[in-house]
Amino acid sequence: MAAEILMLCSGKGGTGKSTVSVLTGASLAAQGKRVLLIELDSGLRSVDIIAGVYGKTVYDIEDVLCGRCEGRKAIVDSPLYPGLSVISAPYEGGEVAPAPLQRLAAAVRPFYDFVLLDTAAGMGAPFAAAAQVADRALLVLTPDPVALRDGRIVADRLLAGRRPQSRVRLVMNRVQKHSFGKNAPVADLDECIDTVGAQLIGVIPESRELQQAAMAGVALPRDCAAAAAGRALAKRLCGNRVPLTLW
Ligand SMILES: Nc1ncnc2c1ncn2[C@@H]1O[C@H](COP(=O)(O)OP(=O)(O)O)[C@@H](O)[C@H]1O
Ligand SMILES: [Mg+2]
Repeated sequence: MAAEILMLCSGKGGTGKSTVSVLTGASLAAQGKRVLLIELDSGLRSVDIIAGVYGKTVYDIEDVLCGRCEGRKAIVDSPLYPGLSVISAPYEGGEVAPAPLQRLAAAVRPFYDFVLLDTAAGMGAPFAAAAQVADRALLVLTPDPVALRDGRIVADRLLAGRRPQSRVRLVMNRVQKHSFGKNAPVADLDECIDTVGAQLIGVIPESRELQQAAMAGVALPRDCAAAAAGRALAKRLCGNRVPLTLW
């Protein structure tokens, strides 16, 4: 079976794309899927730390896309999450062009069940290249009006490219009890869905465990709420029906 290629994008920066990419990849891998996570955010590399491959990376995605090395040489297995492999972004520079990314995707597809493309904020080169390659897009947004409004612009761009509505899904990240309500800037999850115009496929809570594990480069404890949310998201991505609960 060829891998499904998923891109994670947002519009606004810092919504948790890289954190949720690793959580999603680790959760899919824990369910027996072979996962390759490619970070496309040149200069703002963070997946290497979150996935624990920091210091183990010799080649990065820029080396692969420029033809300086074969794709397989840049793939590093995560020591934290068995079944998850990573190609890191460069520390600086590098342009992500669609054609080389397409070639890399075609080369790795047969060997994985999922390839995750962690893009950069906005709709620049990494977004545009990933959008040409991805089978499905996950908008990773936080529950604030700016992220939601920018998310709508990104969703519209993805859908304008003839992508069916079912191929764009919303993941609400950093959700907490007081994210919603009369005194909050956003009323509820329905408002998020309506503003963005995409169906919800996951809700990841605000999580100190997730933040600390990511910063320290250690594995996320399996018994925390964020890990449970990651497992539920992974099951939904595999086509299972799992109820969407907030807590
Ligand atoms: N669910 C969460 N709970 C707590 N902190 C989070 C969560 N998701 C992301 N963060 C934090 O938000 C910051 C930005 O996350 P990151 O994944 O780097 O965003 P992006 O890739 O979109 O720029 C990081 O400090 C990260 O630890
Ligand atoms: Mg990032």
